[in-house]
Amino acid sequence: MTTADWLRSLPALTGQAPPLGAGLPAEPHALFLAWLRQAVDAGVAEPHAATLATIDPDGLPDARTLILKDVDARGWAFAGRRSSRKGAQLAVHPVAALDFWWQPLVRAVRVRGAVREASPAESAADLTARFAVAREGIDDWVRWWIEPQRVEFWQGSPDRRHHRIVYLRTSDERGADRWIRSEERG
Ligand SMILES: Cc1cc2nc3c(=O)[nH]c(=O)nc-3n(C[C@H](O)[C@H](O)[C@H](O)COP(=O)(O)O)c2cc1C
Repeated sequence: MTTADWLRSLPALTGQAPPLGAGLPAEPHALFLAWLRQAVDAGVAEPHAATLATIDPDGLPDARTLILKDVDARGWAFAGRRSSRKGAQLAVHPVAALDFWWQPLVRAVRVRGAVREASPAESAADLTARFAVAREGIDDWVRWWIEPQRVEFWQGSPDRRHHRIVYLRTSDERGADRWIRSEERG
């Protein structure tokens, strides 16, 4: 069997999609928190782990796994060392994407947008909240916020008629932030 045949033989999208429920919230962080809660209730292992993609100074993408630190109307927060590869990349290109995959629920969430560094006090509080052993020797811990421009909620379906709910940030005539929501199937 070739590697390609072997990969094709592995099952994919084998989870059980929960019903979407009636009515969608106006803001993506509210839907994200509802989905995250459902993932926790369904026993998804470490549902707050995600893949963070950034861009290096040459324009090449990079990605790694990390833990989500907070979510609210401001966006999605993560943390790490300023001296890390991601820290150097974010200093040059303050943009990122975050991807969650909750296999048992056949659900994925994608978030992309500009990245803003939290205040020094918020970063210090994030470090303080870590286990003592994880704090040892760390003096350059930073919390960052992704301020999303686009958030996509993907609900897989066994018949491959997948459902996508997309929130796009725009501004109204007075310049205030507003979310436009659309849905696609197929
Ligand atoms: C489940 C899991 C959680 C992780 N959580 C974090 C985290 O919250 N912050 C972090 O900087 N690295 C975390 N890491 C390590 C990163 O994947 C990565 O190795 C590290 O941040 C260095 O990445 P960089 O060289 O791209 O900066 C985690 C790794 C795994 C597998």
